[in-house]
Amino acid sequence: MEIKVATGDITKTKADAILVNYFEAMEHPEGDTAALDKALDGAISRLISQGEIKGKCNEVTIIHSLGKLPADRIVVVGLGKPDELTADKIRGAMAAACRLLRRKYVATIATVTQGAGLAGITDEGSAQALTEGALLGLYTFRRHITKESEQGEIKSLTIVSPDKNNLPVLRRGVNRGTILSEATNLARDMVNEPANYMTPTDMAEMATRQAKTHGLEIDVLEREQVQEMGMGAFLAVARASVQPPKLIVLNYKGGKSGETDIALIGKGVTFDTGGISIKPSDRMDEMKGDMAGGAAVIAAMTAIAQLKPRINVLAVIAATENMPGGNALKPGDVVTAMGGKTIEIISTDAEGRLTLADALGYARQQDAKLIIDVATLTGACHRALGDVCSGGFTNNQELLDKVIAAGVEAGERIWQLPMYEEYKDQNKSEVADLKNTGGPLAGASTAALFLAEFAGEIPWVHLDIAGTFLTDKERKYTVKGATGVPVRTLVNLVVSLAK
Ligand code: BES
Ligand code: MN
Ligand code: ZN
Repeated sequence: MEIKVATGDITKTKADAILVNYFEAMEHPEGDTAALDKALDGAISRLISQGEIKGKCNEVTIIHSLGKLPADRIVVVGLGKPDELTADKIRGAMAAACRLLRRKYVATIATVTQGAGLAGITDEGSAQALTEGALLGLYTFRRHITKESEQGEIKSLTIVSPDKNNLPVLRRGVNRGTILSEATNLARDMVNEPANYMTPTDMAEMATRQAKTHGLEIDVLEREQVQEMGMGAFLAVARASVQPPKLIVLNYKGGKSGETDIALIGKGVTFDTGGISIKPSDRMDEMKGDMAGGAAVIAAMTAIAQLKPRINVLAVIAATENMPGGNALKPGDVVTAMGGKTIEIISTDAEGRLTLADALGYARQQDAKLIIDVATLTGACHRALGDVCSGGFTNNQELLDKVIAAGVEAGERIWQLPMYEEYKDQNKSEVADLKNTGGPLAGASTAALFLAEFAGEIPWVHLDIAGTFLTDKERKYTVKGATGVPVRTLVNLVVSLAK
């Protein structure tokens, strides 16, 4: 879809559909909505007084103009109460409207800077939110469907402003929204891709392609090099797979040379069978998305490369499958992570923390000043928080507060879970330094405490996205399947740290 900005009068704009807003508890249409109402001989006011238009969030009403306006349809989109407006509500309403209009074979849309001037929303912020709502909300994954879609396609969205001086600001918002949405949709594509199309090799090739396109440095380390670095935990997980593991390392250099300002680490298990501690077959297919953290990190790097903040960012993804087999890791085995810590394997299904232990080791070796890791790590986190928010853990409150704020800006919620000392006992082993599971209680926290051992003294945040990487229904601007969480949070964070 092409997104354009233009100056002019929305009532004179030609398009298949023009989108304007109505707010809850407003008595009459105002501004552009009022002007269109007048041209439609009061059709909007009539629907308001009859109760069809209430202005509730995501309410979409289509009115056919029947020749009274250059545009074929006027679409009134509810945005809730004006003083409670957020950028996320604009994204959500825009997504709902676009999806409905696509089903009606509408090809061209024009709209105004929805919500600008209310509740701290700027013209730029509105343009960005409209762009994100449209591009994220209209996402589909049809790569493996040979039948043509029965829906139409929205070809263009034009954001119209009466003020010509406004155009550069709107263009900036559209540009930023496009970069963030395309990155999010890239992560969604990678997660939705079946595991036979997204092996560690495929993931490394995808990262290489993106790095070339966007000018990132990339290094893909093979099994032998990973072995030389002493990554015994990562390799233990990779052992039984016929797919070779890949340590994917990306670098964005926008800051002072020689320093790693922040490391982003993503879990990259391209399929998690559980290994010898094999998972039940019910919904095991979802484990093709066990590389969602890694996908989010790769995707975030592509956006960072385009936005060019003055900061250096390292990305590390230890990509592998977790398979059973004659050569597989077994419960009771002891493995040695990079840096020398030994780990007793209790469950081969607690593989994510093993791969992350070595990715963290790598980031430490590169003297990362801050570390964020993102992982579909525990079913416990999913059970505790559902699919509404990700779990956040840290050894540095200030850093987690910044990550949470970056998440709020993105509409990606993060709820902090505890890392109390007392939980640490659950990770103690009789035969090694640590064991890889902490028992049935507080599973998200014991997993985080395991990772904390490998982050050491470096300020670090762990995001558990086991509940949020997938959704089973259309909600706001996400559609069934991968959500692309937390790509936009990571990008917002890096951009704000660079300031
Ligand atoms: N990838 C899973 C966690 C997961 C579960 C992510 C559901 C998304 C949805 C992870 O590797 C895993 O299997 N974790 C185990 C840990 C346990 C063995 C300590 C779990 O949560 O059951
Ligand atoms: Mn597992
Ligand atoms: Zn896993």
